[in-house]
Amino acid sequence: MKKIPSTYSRRSVLNSIALGGAAMITGIANAQTAATTLPQFTSQSDATRLASDEAFWREVATYYERAEGIVNLEHGYWGKMAKPVQETYIEATRLVNKQLSYYARRDFGEDAQVSSARVAQALGVEQNEIVLTRNATESIHNLIRQYHKIESSDAVLYADIDYPSFQDTMQWLADTNKAKAVVVNLPGRVAQEAIFSAYLQAFDANPNLKLMLITHVSNQHGLVVPVARIAAEAKRRGIDVICDCAQSWGLVDYKIADLGVDWAGFNIHKWIGAPVGVGALYVRQGTLEKIRPYPGETDPDNNRLYKRVHTATSNFAAIMAIPAALDFHAAVGGANKEARLKYLRGLWTQEAETMAHIEVLGGADEESWTGMAAFRLRGETSPSAVNALQRRLEQEFGIFTVARFELSSGACIRVTPQVFNTPNELAQLVRALRQLKA
Ligand SMILES: Cc1ncc(COP(=O)(O)O)c(C=O)c1O
Repeated sequence: MKKIPSTYSRRSVLNSIALGGAAMITGIANAQTAATTLPQFTSQSDATRLASDEAFWREVATYYERAEGIVNLEHGYWGKMAKPVQETYIEATRLVNKQLSYYARRDFGEDAQVSSARVAQALGVEQNEIVLTRNATESIHNLIRQYHKIESSDAVLYADIDYPSFQDTMQWLADTNKAKAVVVNLPGRVAQEAIFSAYLQAFDANPNLKLMLITHVSNQHGLVVPVARIAAEAKRRGIDVICDCAQSWGLVDYKIADLGVDWAGFNIHKWIGAPVGVGALYVRQGTLEKIRPYPGETDPDNNRLYKRVHTATSNFAAIMAIPAALDFHAAVGGANKEARLKYLRGLWTQEAETMAHIEVLGGADEESWTGMAAFRLRGETSPSAVNALQRRLEQEFGIFTVARFELSSGACIRVTPQVFNTPNELAQLVRALRQLKA
């Protein structure tokens, strides 16, 4: 067993206790109870083999509080904090609420720097290439809104699998600059090569493309887009790329270098499992010039990434808990988690594919797979039919999922297990799918 300490900056906390006296002692002592032991994963554990090791994942599951009464297969919204992360967060909340501005004005800056450095390290980039935000939306919206290289003769590109609000913001950017918006529509079930070809076709047909949005993992059906290949081709043609990594970081195990993009937005509250309210913006060194500072801010030398966001008062405790979330994620192992989630997906999709009345959506080859996937009753693509199906799954079968509506191929039910879901729960979904036959 490996000892993982609770990890918001002990130094700042200790500094404040030295200065603050007895009133703070309870907070510090409680904070230290957040220290915990995590399962130690042997170095020879191969992630694929470990994916079906039920004893191992049962142990991981003990680190999460489970809700009774419903099989929740909707973990794409945000991530459950593991118990050690939750404890760290609660203790950090107590500390902040007790010390207020005395902590925030004196020590929080240093703690936030520690959190931001940990995020940069986990993503394999320099600290000055990362700035913390409140969520992925803040990161990506700022990139799109503050990109200032579009002229009326240019075109921008987005796809039906992109996050709906970001499609709207890209369309807004085009409209505001009287530029053209190009939309790539992908089939509901698609493999890497076909995804790449669809983007390539759009590039060929629109030589005036200046900026594109690309989503690493779609929030509609968990499809993995071959970002590195597409971004390399975009770069060759002088197209700037904004990459949405909101759903991918922690669901898939990677570093930013694997994507080959200059600009990306993340949250830390989905698959990394930090408290809600923390995200990150990545801008590669030397590329700040194309992204204006936040309105009203200045950065004449274009070397201050933090000038691209203006987050103001935020959830201090959530930011302080980021290192604990990264520690827990690392202890489980990013590759192990990705493999387990894909394994859980396979437990239901492989059965569903044998059912003529079910259409499975998302990746058509394993490189395009994540733990998240989607389905619908064959031919039933309308939002009302899919909403009715979601209600039926919940009310008749005790399984909670979510309806998604943005794919050009029609609406679908998204199914997203987490590491603490069991094969029995996926079997319950499979039984329900069989009974959905009209
Ligand atoms: C692909 C994708 N992009 C962006 C977002 C927005 O993330 P956030 O809520 O952190 O702003 C989500 C959230 O579901 C998402 O799945």
